[in-house]
Amino acid sequence: MRINPSILSADFANFESELQRVAAADLIHVDIMDNHFVPNLTFGLPMVQRLQQVTPKPLDVHLMIDDPERWAPGYAEAGAYSVTFHAEATGDSVGLARRLRSIGARAGIALKPGTDVMDYLEILGEFDQVLVMTVEPGFGGQSFMESTMPKLVALREVVTKTGLDVWLQVDGGINEKTIGIAAEAGADTFVAGSSVFGSDNPAAAITTLRELARAHTHA
Ligand code: DX5
Ligand code: ZN
Repeated sequence: MRINPSILSADFANFESELQRVAAADLIHVDIMDNHFVPNLTFGLPMVQRLQQVTPKPLDVHLMIDDPERWAPGYAEAGAYSVTFHAEATGDSVGLARRLRSIGARAGIALKPGTDVMDYLEILGEFDQVLVMTVEPGFGGQSFMESTMPKLVALREVVTKTGLDVWLQVDGGINEKTIGIAAEAGADTFVAGSSVFGSDNPAAAITTLRELARAHTHA
């Protein structure tokens, strides 16, 4: 069970201290948006290169960008532990995942709520993580879409059957009320932005989320 706070909900003027506030996390989720793939803009590679120098935990980079072939390898080269690109943004997800792995990063593939998981079940071994978006990507603070849970159930079934070491991540609207639903469906890696950074005590929020996820898991 991994809890990955998203710095999209952090204080952008104080990233170094904000990272320390969530040092109890497993990884730290970094949302890269380009105002093309999603209608919002955040930060890019120079930012991640600098965060990499001060972060207390490995970085889990989520690329909500067009043309990931061009940009994703740079994040792996910067030392990001995990680099996740969107399935909808590339015609060659396997080739890109192989490239990321060859650089030494874990390779993740993300699916928007409307994207079918079926095409990816047979090639699951090419990835280290599947990110099932539980909101439309672009903004923090949205409501969890329970309609995406059948994708996790399908993924968990294949992972269990094959014994592959693929993390199943959910991102969007994860809080104390929803994390159990996602854990029960098969998620083992949980991104939480507003519910962690919006808390007075982020460390306690992380611990509580982790305990709730454990209590609801079948894995
Ligand atoms: C949304 C981002 C998420 C976002 C989640 O497009 O990918 O990582 O930060 O924020 P919350 O947890 O507030 O829904
Ligand atoms: Zn994200």
